[in-house]
Amino acid sequence: MIIAPSLLAANYGRLAREVTRHKVSGAEWLHLDIMDGHFVPNLSFGPGIVKALRPLTRTFFDVHLMCSKPEVLLPLFADAGADQITVHVELGDRVSHLLWKIRSLGLKVGLAINPPTQLATVRPFLSRIDTLLIMTVNPGFGGQEFIEECLPKIQQAHAWRLTGAHAFHIEVDGGINEHTAADCARAGADVFVAGTALFGRPNLKAAVAKLRRAVHQAVAPAPVRPSRAHKPGKLPSQR
Ligand code: DX5
Ligand code: ZN
Repeated sequence: MIIAPSLLAANYGRLAREVTRHKVSGAEWLHLDIMDGHFVPNLSFGPGIVKALRPLTRTFFDVHLMCSKPEVLLPLFADAGADQITVHVELGDRVSHLLWKIRSLGLKVGLAINPPTQLATVRPFLSRIDTLLIMTVNPGFGGQEFIEECLPKIQQAHAWRLTGAHAFHIEVDGGINEHTAADCARAGADVFVAGTALFGRPNLKAAVAKLRRAVHQAVAPAPVRPSRAHKPGKLPSQR
């Protein structure tokens, strides 16, 4: 299981300190949401910020590009220190080349899908990706409500992963908290992105631990109850 706090919900007035907060939180990845004001109706930050944060931590930089023209941005984010770059399947016939380009830059490859898009669109690419990012809100803003209708997509992707020859992470992003993460974990997700429920909380370390516990409990095998027949009887001396 991987927990990936999204910097989108951090305090932009003290980003360096927020990265330090992440460093001691126990989270495995740092999720970096890049918005271009075109693919989504909002702006966030660019490669300059990512590059400035890179020397502060060795954590895995998970860059999520919500951008109409990732072609021009890929080398910039590679140079800034991204470990994985995710592009959206909604970019259509450019996706194949974009995935190749990310790989050729020596990075892990992610592919994201928005709630209204059919899961079948990602299927041809599953052998070429490290992470399938299933959006559980319409991207653009933090703090939105989890869209439950995305759960069957996670189940289907998980089924493909089990039956196919390809291993890839199933990452969920949007409206993730202790409750929705548990639902996603039961459906097959193994990477959990959260902004509001992690950086949005005063104690990031405690929030990460709480989310991790919720996921563990959701996927833990049910305890085996000892049957009555095998219940050890008390010795006379214990009575
Ligand atoms: C949504 C972004 C998310 C966002 C999640 O457009 O891709 O990564 O930060 O924020 P919360 O967890 O607040 O929904
Ligand atoms: Zn994201």
